[in-house]
Amino acid sequence: MTTRPVVWVTRRLPSTVEQALTDLFDIQQPADDVPLDTDALQAAFRTADAVLCTVTDRVDAACFTQAGVRARLVANFGVGVNNIDLDAARAAGVAVTNTPDVLTDDTADLTIALMLAVMRRMGEGERLVRAGAWDGWQPTQLLGHRVHGKTLGIVGLGRIGRAVARRAHEGFGMRVLAWSRSRTRPSESGDGITRITRLDEMLAQSDVVSLHCPLMPTTRHLIGAPQLAQMRPSAFLLNTARGPIVDEQALVAALDAGQIAGAGLDVYEEEPRVHPGLVGRENVVLLPHLGSATHETRAAMGMRALANLRAHFAGQALPDRIV
Ligand code: DGY
Repeated sequence: MTTRPVVWVTRRLPSTVEQALTDLFDIQQPADDVPLDTDALQAAFRTADAVLCTVTDRVDAACFTQAGVRARLVANFGVGVNNIDLDAARAAGVAVTNTPDVLTDDTADLTIALMLAVMRRMGEGERLVRAGAWDGWQPTQLLGHRVHGKTLGIVGLGRIGRAVARRAHEGFGMRVLAWSRSRTRPSESGDGITRITRLDEMLAQSDVVSLHCPLMPTTRHLIGAPQLAQMRPSAFLLNTARGPIVDEQALVAALDAGQIAGAGLDVYEEEPRVHPGLVGRENVVLLPHLGSATHETRAAMGMRALANLRAHFAGQALPDRIV
């Protein structure tokens, strides 16, 4: 009997994915569906041929440099790979893959939902109804801000940024501006997006600013006190990318000072901790990192991770290789 590759799977995944993984590999999983601590994660790298991890695993250099490392592939269940020390993986010759494309549309949908929720005060309205405090329709109750026709500024024009731009432009008739740190391409006719070369100019012109860049050293606190001060007092900030792109302390201060009108957040600087200055605010909508959280997408993410594992153990090119 041939031995099958051992794969450590750090969290519980949709059952179809777990079944498909079990059909091909010897799967090891923790007893409880909570993030592995540092020691357990390092042990996974010593006992398995590959590790399938998630955004909740901090895969630091020690995972790759410790004595007795066996894993040769880290298959991340997620598109963002800021949870993995890529330089250390590269130096150790360990491959890293992610799961792009399959979560683009659901994450874009959720971004639009956050925009509507915060601008139309849906969280406040829902809390009012649930509290039994709604005493009927009123002409001036919970008036929000119109979404259609407004200007949306997109930070980071990758797959998800483009998908949000398309929805905003085609679905809500929004004027869409975009700024990218990496490169600013000239306007492409017909996509409805106007490229802006300076972030401060885009921030100053936008009614809504939505973040879609990856978290890297150069994008950590990309939106801090100076950038928040460049936004309009009537503008809203959306973040469905990664929490540390925003300086949360500065965001709380900007909200306190009325420098911006509100925020819709799906991600936080130190998940699952949410800054206490955000929790009690009516003009902030807070979601628990739900961007890709649909049955369809989470299953597709698992199958994409599986495709990378399969290719790795078959000695083939990895479809979603980052490192
Ligand atoms: C992603 O794919 O990056 C999601 O945020 C889950 O990690």
